[in-house]
Amino acid sequence: MSSQTRHWRLDGNSSTLLVIRDHAVPRLFWCGSRLHDDTELAHMLVHDDSALAFGGLDGVTPLSLFPQASTAYTGSPALNGHRNGAAFAHALHTSDIRQDENHLTIMLQDDHVNLSVELHLSLDASSDVARMSTSLTNTGNTPYTVDWLASATLPMPSSYRECLTQHGRWGLESQTHRRTIAPGRIDISNLHGRTSHEHASSLACGTAGFGDNGGDVMFAHLAWSGNFSLRIERLSNGTISLQAGVLYLPGECLLQPGETVTTPPVLFTRGNGMNQCTQRFHQHARSSILPAWTRRPRPIHANSWEALYFNHDQDALFTLIDAAASVGAERFVLDDGWFLHRRSDNAGLGDWYVDTGIYPEGLHPVVERVRQHGMQFGLWFEPEMVNPDSNLFRAHPEWTLQLAHVDTPLARNQLALDIARDEVSDYLFERITSLVHEYAIDYIKWDHNRDLVLPGDGAHARAAAQPAALYRLMARIIDACPDLEIESCAAGGARADFAVLEHTGRVWTSDNIDPIERARIQQGFLRFMPPEIMGAHVGHKTAHLTGRVTSLHTRAIVALQGQFGFELDARRLDPHDVITLQHYTQLYKRHREWLASSRYWHVPTYSKALIACGFVDEAQRQALFSVVAIGNMHPTRPGHLPLAGLVSDRFYQLTLESINLSELAPFNKIIPDWCDHAVTTTGEMLMKFGVPLPVMPPQSALLIGCHRVSDS
Ligand code: DGJ
Repeated sequence: MSSQTRHWRLDGNSSTLLVIRDHAVPRLFWCGSRLHDDTELAHMLVHDDSALAFGGLDGVTPLSLFPQASTAYTGSPALNGHRNGAAFAHALHTSDIRQDENHLTIMLQDDHVNLSVELHLSLDASSDVARMSTSLTNTGNTPYTVDWLASATLPMPSSYRECLTQHGRWGLESQTHRRTIAPGRIDISNLHGRTSHEHASSLACGTAGFGDNGGDVMFAHLAWSGNFSLRIERLSNGTISLQAGVLYLPGECLLQPGETVTTPPVLFTRGNGMNQCTQRFHQHARSSILPAWTRRPRPIHANSWEALYFNHDQDALFTLIDAAASVGAERFVLDDGWFLHRRSDNAGLGDWYVDTGIYPEGLHPVVERVRQHGMQFGLWFEPEMVNPDSNLFRAHPEWTLQLAHVDTPLARNQLALDIARDEVSDYLFERITSLVHEYAIDYIKWDHNRDLVLPGDGAHARAAAQPAALYRLMARIIDACPDLEIESCAAGGARADFAVLEHTGRVWTSDNIDPIERARIQQGFLRFMPPEIMGAHVGHKTAHLTGRVTSLHTRAIVALQGQFGFELDARRLDPHDVITLQHYTQLYKRHREWLASSRYWHVPTYSKALIACGFVDEAQRQALFSVVAIGNMHPTRPGHLPLAGLVSDRFYQLTLESINLSELAPFNKIIPDWCDHAVTTTGEMLMKFGVPLPVMPPQSALLIGCHRVSDS
């Protein structure tokens, strides 16, 4: 290691990032548990790793924070670009490094190809979540085309062997896949023009078999709502890298002389087991990303979609509003179908005017009815879309994303607008803010129901411009309507990422509210995103997406994992159901404040038929754990569920918080005592031995409460 080597460290509560400069571009020498003192640091620095085997390129340099082929790096470089076919090679070197507390700016330049780069690396000390982004400037006097610019290239420990990614489809988001990090490249490329159902922009990598509570694990997330690529690459020299960035369509990122492009950030943390990384991501989202209103008690939603679909009728709506209020709703959301010509999904998108054919006095009577019950009022929009059968399209066909010589395929009979055009964004701003002001709307459900396929301005690709324009539009609306809350919905959960969440603060997780499938979807969502922003509604007895019939208890217990609400037709509940639902709404109201800052634990179960998770308050005084039987258990004895996050030497009272003993009892010849009456024991017993479970028939669920007894 040369005497020129310098280092910079960023410290968090329990992590350290150590950047060293021993070659042209600095490298991330350490990202992991906190290094305690400089003795340890000095010790690490003498561990020179410049040994070079025969048979390869001379002078191979270790993976830097901006890998380039000019340093004999043969993996995916940080930048691929050219000037009309020339200047494809570059050799950027460090010109300056500045540290401002926990923020490091590394400046690179190449005066031959006329490019300069800034790498921004920071560590949020309280959550131990780091972020990195990259800016590239064309300092030359001809245009420079960027084909690929990584937000970050991070070295993974060479012991890492597995990665966990999330994939899905409409109605089945956040399904987890584990795979081996074998030689070569894993490339998760999303070309859906939105964050997508298909691939999440989050992943976990770690040592073989890493799990919820063990293994060396790194979480990473690209905060971006458009096309992206996540790459994990293992080279024959043992280097393993994780790279993430925007996936540009051809020619889409063209830097004119003097222009700069800045990538979205990659968030990352390295911990012991996934639960630790999850808790850090949740904490970071709460303190550094989500809008301030997410810290207020999250109201219970009642959404009209599955109760009415497009069959809007003012009187029917009044009875639905009354019924929703009677079971505890605090915010009524009028979903799709309220605006001009919107009698089905064939027409109307873009015409954001109340349909006076259905609502002769506008929405005033509806809003009044909602307010009479003390509820807030929310309204559905899908601003970025237009139906060819709409006044907007007839007036401005040129506002759509389209190409001159290739037809854009329709999806749900709709096209997307080019919201990066000022006149489009101004129109949407005017329409949305006028309605928000006219009706004092508290909340918008902002939907986005189609993929952007071949998005163009007639000739050029326009995919990457859309998310950036979306964030600007949302920020402008929020500026004009500071009390407004926005939810990110995209045919369910196809736009769930930490970039849109800076403006939205709630996600409609999925259109699938069958609790058995929803439990798995939510488990995936909660790996990276906190529970209080996860829209989780009680659906109908017969789930509309799957036809599965489940009990109200199971539906409510699963919905209690997030921001609780109703997607059902409350007019059709029988008196017994009303009482049952009231129990769960009251339970949610009692616990929601501490739940919004709780630690989430995914609890491993020994049976694949059970999904379990828990929420423990910051003071470790109370906790709720839910167990969902998604299938039939093979063993006849259900065994114990080891709880997590409690204080070992304190006493906790264990209670069955769900009121479904009568559903479970017939399947148990003997049922564990605690199901019947409260039992008190130590945190250690609950975590080491666990809670003895009753026999749980398929599709049943349990809600376990733990309260620390006051003098313990
Ligand atoms: C898709 C959303 O996910 C649903 O909840 C609903 O709002 C429909 N769009 C309305 O078209």
